[in-house]
Amino acid sequence: MLKKLLCRRLFSYPINYCFVFLVFSLVTFSVVRIHQKPEFINSRPLELVGENPGNVNCTKVVQGDIDEIQKAKLETLTVKFRTRTRWTPHDYLNMTRDCASFIKSRKYITEPLSKEEAGFPIAYSIVVHHKIEMLDRLLRAIYMPQNFYCIHVDRKSEQPFLAAVMGIASCFNNVFVASQLESVVYASWSRVQADLNCMKDLHRMRADWKYLINLCGMDFPIKTNLEIVRKLKSFMGENNLETEKMPLHKEERWKKRYAVIDGKLTNTGTVKTHPPLETPLFSGSAYFVVSREYVTYVLENEKIQKFMEWAQDTYSPDEYLWATIQRIPEVPGSRSLSHKYDLSDMLSVARFVKWQYYEGDTSKGAPYPPCTGTHVRSVCVFGAGDLNWMLHTHHLFANKFDMDVDHFAIQCLDEHLRHKALETLHH
Ligand SMILES: *[C@@H]1O[C@H](CO)[C@@H](O)[C@H](O)[C@H]1NC(C)=O
Ligand SMILES: *[C@@H]1O[C@H](CO)[C@@H](O)[C@H](O)[C@H]1NC(C)=O
Repeated sequence: MLKKLLCRRLFSYPINYCFVFLVFSLVTFSVVRIHQKPEFINSRPLELVGENPGNVNCTKVVQGDIDEIQKAKLETLTVKFRTRTRWTPHDYLNMTRDCASFIKSRKYITEPLSKEEAGFPIAYSIVVHHKIEMLDRLLRAIYMPQNFYCIHVDRKSEQPFLAAVMGIASCFNNVFVASQLESVVYASWSRVQADLNCMKDLHRMRADWKYLINLCGMDFPIKTNLEIVRKLKSFMGENNLETEKMPLHKEERWKKRYAVIDGKLTNTGTVKTHPPLETPLFSGSAYFVVSREYVTYVLENEKIQKFMEWAQDTYSPDEYLWATIQRIPEVPGSRSLSHKYDLSDMLSVARFVKWQYYEGDTSKGAPYPPCTGTHVRSVCVFGAGDLNWMLHTHHLFANKFDMDVDHFAIQCLDEHLRHKALETLHH
């Protein structure tokens, strides 16, 4: 009766047409709802363009426009730029007292951007010790409500920094500070332990994350969450990290006993026993992309535990431990059965790094063009001019970024990725 009335009133069509129309509308409506985009169709407030302190066009910077990159460089030299407001840990403590306002004003994404991403949560272990603004930037760039984030703060960090990290974490129920904090000494076991503490916390959560990625405060993504999800899915349970033949000159690092003396890791000269493994030691990086099954295995397997105990008094165990475990045949997702060969840092996806001695003319065979920022221990701290090239590599993250070296390298990358992530909502 109501239907008749409605139809007569609204459309004044003959009843049978009206019925067909209503059914059609209902079906269309349901289909649209099922395939509906997430809550905020209005993605404009989430674009990061308004945050640009200078007059630099980041679209051009990311496209590799030489003039605009030069302009960005000059901009950083101006008084206006140099005296711009920087946020301190105290500012973050204040801002995170009102989480709703913090999340909104900092433009964190609060809804999964697609069903595909919602169905494939990622866990992150982030090891930091200073520069709260950088951490906020990094976290915001990778933050999605379906993912999980463990932040390990160095026990030596200043108290306001730790408090500020806790403030940020308190605003999200999927971000937390590691339950056990280490005092991290350069090149020592404590660096591995920091990641292990986060691994344990993330593992204990019984959340449904699929892969674990570890990061430090100088990393930044060069792919959107959706792109990361698709890459991880393509691995079909395999881990992905650098693992190469151990160079002779690095053997001293684990053939001798090292100890922390006066806050520095020092070679004691004492000869160590052979590692308790049949697999030889391999060389790699501190950064990995590993499956959940791998994490369970590494935390529970006795042989791995013994290997880890053995590795505790060596130099830079992070640079051989993960690379070696990845070559043990029974480890889930390891690279021992399906692939016989090494995986270099350029071929693995975990991290894009520019080593000073490999930089050069790419038309003459160099793996990447020269660094446009500065170097720290032979590693490039990226400038805005490095973005265009790195965005064409297959890596998920790049290292190192520092807002104090080149603000626009991070600013423009951040804007670019956010825009790209939001753009997919319209297609
Ligand atoms: C920035 O540069 C791009 C590409 O050249 C251009 O399309 C865009 O309009 C520019 N944006 C502004 C605000 O000038
Ligand atoms: C804290 O933030 C509010 C605005 O949210 C501001 O008015 C106030 O001055 C800030 N306090 C401190 C101590 O920075």
